Amino acid sequence: MQKWIMSGLFFAACVVAIVLMVTLPGKEDVAQEEKPSMPEVKLDAAAAEATVKAQGCLSCHGDQLQGSVGPNLQKIGSQLSAEEIYTIITKGKGGMPSFKDKLKSEEIANVAQWLAAKK
Ligand code: HEC
Repeated sequence: MQKWIMSGLFFAACVVAIVLMVTLPGKEDVAQEEKPSMPEVKLDAAAAEATVKAQGCLSCHGDQLQGSVGPNLQKIGSQLSAEEIYTIITKGKGGMPSFKDKLKSEEIANVAQWLAAKK
């Protein structure tokens, strides 16, 4: 009788462990897919250029945004909207680091609009 209870408990613990393993990373994925919403800012091109220089964007995207480690951004506005660029800078993507801890969302929005205007 006691053996039966022990194996029952063991089985229940396994079920709980499996459920946790399946659901925990799943929840994280959902959070990752959420799109951060871009604050509305008036484009300030000089400030955007200063941010891009100060944050080392140019070390990966080239001093003329012509691309090196990261892709060419000279005509990025014809491929991506300001919101999409905002999401990439905020969250990062592949080899592209996230800047949400380094920049204010307004600064990211300004850079995103500046890049989105490059067509
Ligand atoms: C450590 C190198 C690095 C730095 C620093 C960096 N990037 Fe990137 N960036 C990348 C790489 C690599 C990609 C390509 C990511 C991918 O598509 O997997 C990328 C992608 C992008 C894209 C999307 C381009 C496309 O064609 O999809 C934008 C926009 C961008 N970066 C802007 C910026 C801005 C603005 C900064 C500075 C705030 C910056 N990056 C800093 C490496 C970098």
